[in-house]
Amino acid sequence: MISILTTERLIVRRFTSADTSAFHAYRDDPDVAHWQGWDAPFAFSEAERLVAEFATSAVFEPGTWTQFAIQLCDVPDLIGDIGVRMEAEELTAELGFTIAREHWGNGYGREALSAMVQLLLDDIALDRVVAFTHHENIASIASLHAAGLAPIAVDGDDLVYYRGRSGSPRPRLPQ
Ligand SMILES: CC(C)(COP(=O)(O)OP(=O)(O)OC[C@H]1O[C@@H](n2cnc3c(N)ncnc32)[C@H](O)[C@@H]1OP(=O)(O)O)[C@@H](O)C(=O)NCCC(=O)NCCS
Repeated sequence: MISILTTERLIVRRFTSADTSAFHAYRDDPDVAHWQGWDAPFAFSEAERLVAEFATSAVFEPGTWTQFAIQLCDVPDLIGDIGVRMEAEELTAELGFTIAREHWGNGYGREALSAMVQLLLDDIALDRVVAFTHHENIASIASLHAAGLAPIAVDGDDLVYYRGRSGSPRPRLPQ
């Protein structure tokens, strides 16, 4: 297992092929897909293709998403994922995150997101992190606030959230 970070209850790690069924299950869940950029039903073959890609892709390559698996410390099964997209020209990362519905409401989203924000700002020393979320996505908005991000702009139906290292300039807003 290639771990990226650990929290009190969670391990954030690289994906492996063993994650495919659990990944497919929450991608195929309409209540999860509703807030995300994919449609349910979600093909199992597409889940297989993506997990294989996530397991082998370069980590934090500028301009591309790196998706990390989230599991409980004492159970190896996938419970969700967190994605990081490094900007090519700025010390900025965009974040995206998903927790499988049966694990919602336990604080896992908030815990994983907060730890990733800390890693990116404190350890990797990025200037800022941003996230886009639908303005009605209460759980996502609460998770972002809990991780110290604040809303700075509206982008269509989305709110743009931001947190920077102290003293770093605000991000360029979407055009
Ligand atoms: C957003 C998501 C990751 C949150 O995961 P989670 O593990 O259930 O979140 P947590 O248990 O850490 O809760 C985080 C906050 O949301 C609140 N919350 C969770 N579910 C909620 C719900 N259904 N309604 C209202 N608030 C909710 C919690 O009370 C908590 O707020 P607090 O920190 O003020 O106590 C999860 O709901 C999800 O995967 N949704 C679908 C995908 C998505 O929307 N991703 C984000 C897009 S950027």
